[in-house]
Amino acid sequence: MSTAKKSNISRITTHVLQEMKLKGEKISMLTAYDYSMAKIIDASGIDVILVGDSASNVMAGHETTLPITLNEMIYHASSVMRAVDRALVVVDLPFGTYQGNSKEALNSAIRIMKEAGSNGIKIEGGHEIIESVDRILSAGIPVMGHLGLTPQSIHKFGTYTVRARQEEEAEKLIEDAHLLEKAGCFAIVLEKVPAELAKKVAEEIKIPIIGIGAGNHVDGQVLVIHDMLGITQDFSPRFLRRYHNLNAEITGSVQAYIDDVKSGEFPNERESY
Ligand code: KIV
Repeated sequence: MSTAKKSNISRITTHVLQEMKLKGEKISMLTAYDYSMAKIIDASGIDVILVGDSASNVMAGHETTLPITLNEMIYHASSVMRAVDRALVVVDLPFGTYQGNSKEALNSAIRIMKEAGSNGIKIEGGHEIIESVDRILSAGIPVMGHLGLTPQSIHKFGTYTVRARQEEEAEKLIEDAHLLEKAGCFAIVLEKVPAELAKKVAEEIKIPIIGIGAGNHVDGQVLVIHDMLGITQDFSPRFLRRYHNLNAEITGSVQAYIDDVKSGEFPNERESY
């Protein structure tokens, strides 16, 4: 039996997350992209659901997160919103909808909030996108930052290896975290950085720091649902803990169904009208 503790808070807000950090209570976050999965995850007691642009990989089969469009993100986010009663739902602004143009960034964020009805948006980067962050926040839209490995910049970095191992990059990351906090972001995702650096950021920064591949001394953790359930098989970074092998379970069930259809065993009389 699961030991997961579902707090009796009826709706998670950005203020609840801030209180959780103050109390030292860890924040749980997972991705979801469709109604059925979001319904299960929400009912399980997750604190935050991220409609990540990782939908580009796990839902659409693209190699990177770059191709997914704003309309596609709104479609995924709307499906998730129809399922969720309790979790805070945050939606990624996809590549090309906020960089270098803060007016476009605001329009993109407004479309997500208006058309999907989500609770906030997530945006990758630090000082280079701070104008966009300021503008989105000025419209009263909650913003979650994302630093460290930022997959939308994969073509700039060239690899998905651990970021900010060198002092210069680590210092820039800390500066960016301060900038995002000062601007008014409600939380920051820190992806694939050394645990010691993540710890320092979580201690210095007053808003919640949610890690993925950032060690255990942060305020919460996020994983991609397809990875932690073992639906994806070809992605095995060190930080990933697989809680299930759903790929094998689904394969077994599909094969049993094929066998029953081929042998004429399905449907039987009780399954017929
Ligand atoms: O798109 C995504 O799923 C993400 C998480 C990995 C944090 O940004």
